[in-house]
Amino acid sequence: MKEKNKDLMEKIVSLCKRRGFVFQGSEIYGGLSGTYDWGHHGLALKNNVRQYWWKKFVDGRKDMYGIDAAILMNARVWEASGHVAGFSDSMEDGKQFNVMFKTEIGAGEEAATVYLRPETAQGMFVNFKNIVDAFHPKLPFGMAQIGKAFRNEIAPRDFIFRQREFEQMEIEYFIRPADWEKYFEYWKDEMLDWMEEIGLDMNKVHELEVPDAERAHYSKRTIDFEFDFPFGRKELFGLAYRTDFDLNIHNLEYIDEEEGEKMVPHVVEPSMGVDRAVLSLLLSVYTEDKKGGETRVYLKFKPNIAPVICAVSPLLKNKPELVEYANTKVYAPLKEKFGRVAWDDNGNIGKRYRRQDEIGTPFCIVVDFDTLTDNTVTVRDRDSGEQERVKVEDLKNYIKDRI
Ligand code: GAP
Repeated sequence: MKEKNKDLMEKIVSLCKRRGFVFQGSEIYGGLSGTYDWGHHGLALKNNVRQYWWKKFVDGRKDMYGIDAAILMNARVWEASGHVAGFSDSMEDGKQFNVMFKTEIGAGEEAATVYLRPETAQGMFVNFKNIVDAFHPKLPFGMAQIGKAFRNEIAPRDFIFRQREFEQMEIEYFIRPADWEKYFEYWKDEMLDWMEEIGLDMNKVHELEVPDAERAHYSKRTIDFEFDFPFGRKELFGLAYRTDFDLNIHNLEYIDEEEGEKMVPHVVEPSMGVDRAVLSLLLSVYTEDKKGGETRVYLKFKPNIAPVICAVSPLLKNKPELVEYANTKVYAPLKEKFGRVAWDDNGNIGKRYRRQDEIGTPFCIVVDFDTLTDNTVTVRDRDSGEQERVKVEDLKNYIKDRI
């Protein structure tokens, strides 16, 4: 079983490199541990994951305010938040090691220490007053941010699971203290819905009630959503009840007009890692089956999450009439409409199907000699491998109906 799991991780890492999803950071100089670079297909996938999150939790709601705070923040933020004193990992010999990345701002004697943010959360708390003054939101309301976070992890490992530079999607949801249990349950369900919507294998998602001794210093209750990764059941996302800890330490308060009093709202925080979302998604959709006696690998993405929605090919790339038709009458209009459309004329058709299967492209469209006379093309379904002929004029609707 262990060998099989190791094997699966190796297959995913190698597919990600081969098909342009994810590469080791600084690879040609021997790599930089804990950093990864995203290629065209990985980036498209990551963008789709982020957009899905933003649509559901920001654009889809009336009570959420987006923010994009600076990564470099005044060191006093991290002193107040407790990260300077306590955001540490244990070294093997028991020495505590602060995992924040330090750098300097300014030159010479004027230089001051600053930290790269280890979580996006504080960028939201320090803007609490700005959001309240600008938008006058009523409780409950939330702030949402997607952005990079940095941690000098002692042992980065397991591909993009534990990195030194990664990305978070976080919400700080401000509530009246008496409502925390209600909103904790509410956000738990919202997070589970989102995971299901993007296509995670929900049989591999588990909830872990984090015991008192293991919770972060700011939290009164935390649930970790864990995922059955090939290297073990590990934290995917977290949901924490942060009480009024953060607003208190930054001396922030709120005038509750309904109750006619000054108060400090409490916070429920759904916190999700973009990279772990992508890794668990890749593991959820990775599929092998037998086609024509050969093992075939395909990524069974939902069409609207897939990095490429459809690929267009002329049957033969040395027949100018096929290439011309495929390019102008099929590829160009589909590309204009859907954006994530690939042109693929490399190798024979079988090879192109295998390649697009590995990228997870739901539809492969081929322009052949019949197309020139009847204006129909073959559309091949990724999962079943079955093909049907579709009129060129119907292609946009055919795809739209399926995504
Ligand atoms: N604001 C709360 C917070 O930062 P966390 O559990 O430390 O909580 C939240 O991080 C999420 O960020 C994790 O559940 C995980 O998805 C992601 N994450 C944390 N450290 C990571 C790392 N080194 N590499 C990749 N993702 C990471």
